[in-house]
Amino acid sequence: HVWMTAGMLLMALSSHTLAAEWNMPVGVTDVSREIYSLHMTIFWICVVIGVVVFGAMFYSLFRYRRSKGAKAAHFHEHTTVEVIWTAIPLLILIAMAIPATATLKKMYDASEADLDILITGQQWRWHYSYLGEDVEFTSSLGTPREQISGNAERGENYLLEVDEPLVIPVDRKVRLLMTSDDVIHSWWVPDLAVKQDAIPSFVNENWVRINEPGVYRGQCAELCGKDHAFMPIVVEAVEPEKFETWLEERKAAAAEEAMGVDREWALDELMERGEQVYGAICASCHQPDGSGMPPTFPALAGNQALMDDSAHHIDTVINGVSGTPMPAFSSTLNPVELAAVITYERNAWGNETGEAIQPSE
Ligand code: CUA
Repeated sequence: HVWMTAGMLLMALSSHTLAAEWNMPVGVTDVSREIYSLHMTIFWICVVIGVVVFGAMFYSLFRYRRSKGAKAAHFHEHTTVEVIWTAIPLLILIAMAIPATATLKKMYDASEADLDILITGQQWRWHYSYLGEDVEFTSSLGTPREQISGNAERGENYLLEVDEPLVIPVDRKVRLLMTSDDVIHSWWVPDLAVKQDAIPSFVNENWVRINEPGVYRGQCAELCGKDHAFMPIVVEAVEPEKFETWLEERKAAAAEEAMGVDREWALDELMERGEQVYGAICASCHQPDGSGMPPTFPALAGNQALMDDSAHHIDTVINGVSGTPMPAFSSTLNPVELAAVITYERNAWGNETGEAIQPSE
C-alpha cells in the first residue's frame, strides 16, 4: 500500500498538468528553462536522498524493534562510516554545484546586450527608460481600483493591468538595469526568471532574451509601502520588426510632446491633463480630493503655504522635499505633465483660480 501510494504520488508529480499547476513555470527564455531543469534535477536528487534516508530509518525501526528482541549496539566511533557519510554528501553537493554554477554564470553575464533598459522603482509604479533611444515612460496600475476590490470580494480571479506595458523585442539580448527613486522594490516576472531588487542609489543588472512573443506578468516582490500590492509589471514581447515600429512611434510621440513645451496651453487643456496625472501619481499619497494623510502626506486642499506661492509649489513638485516621502518628479514627469499637474492642483485647491502654469516656465 505504502509503495503504491508513493508511486502514484511520484507519477502525479511528474505528470505535466499537475506539474504546471504546482511547480515553478518553465518560462520563455533559455535561462528560465535552464533554471527549471536545474530545479527538477535537484528536486529528484532530494527525492532519492529522502527515500534512501527515510527508507533506511524506517526499515531499522521496524526490523530491529524491541519486541523482536533486538538490542541496541553500543560503540563510540566508526571511521569507515564517518568517512562514507561525509564523502557521499560532499560528492552530491559538488555534483549539484557544477550545473548550478554554470547557470549562475550565464544569468549574470549581461554583457553585449542589444538593448539597455533602465528600470526605476517608484512608490508605486515602474519607470522604464530605453537608454540611448530617448524613449521613457511610467507604467502604473491600469486596473480601476473599484474593479479590483469588487472582484476580490466576489472571490474572482483578476489580473492587475498596467496603463503602459514594457515592450521588448524577442530573440534580442535585453539588459535590464534596476534602481529605485525611493525605497527597495523588486522587479519580478516569473516567466522570464528575473527577480531583481531595485535599490536606491545602486544599479543592479540582469538580462533576458525572450524566445516567444507574448504577454508576461509580474509584480513588485519587495514590500515597499501602502500600494506594494498595486505595482504590477506587464511585459509585452514582440517581433523585432514590430518593436522597431513601436519605438519609432514612441519617439515621434516624445518629439511631439517636447514641442508642446513651446506653445501656449489653454487652462482647460492643462486642467484635463493635470487631473489624469494627479490621479495616476499624486492621489496615492495626497488622496483624490487633496485631503492628504497628515502628517506624512500633507493636504493640498487649503494648504496656504503651498498655494500662495507658485514658485514654491513648482519647486516642491520638481525637486521633491528631502527628508520626506515626497520624491523629485523632474525625471518622472515631462514639462507638460508638470505644468498640467501644478495647474490642476492650484486651480482645484488654491485661492486664486484661472491660473495656467505654462510648460516653458
Ligand atoms: Cu514596490 Cu513593492
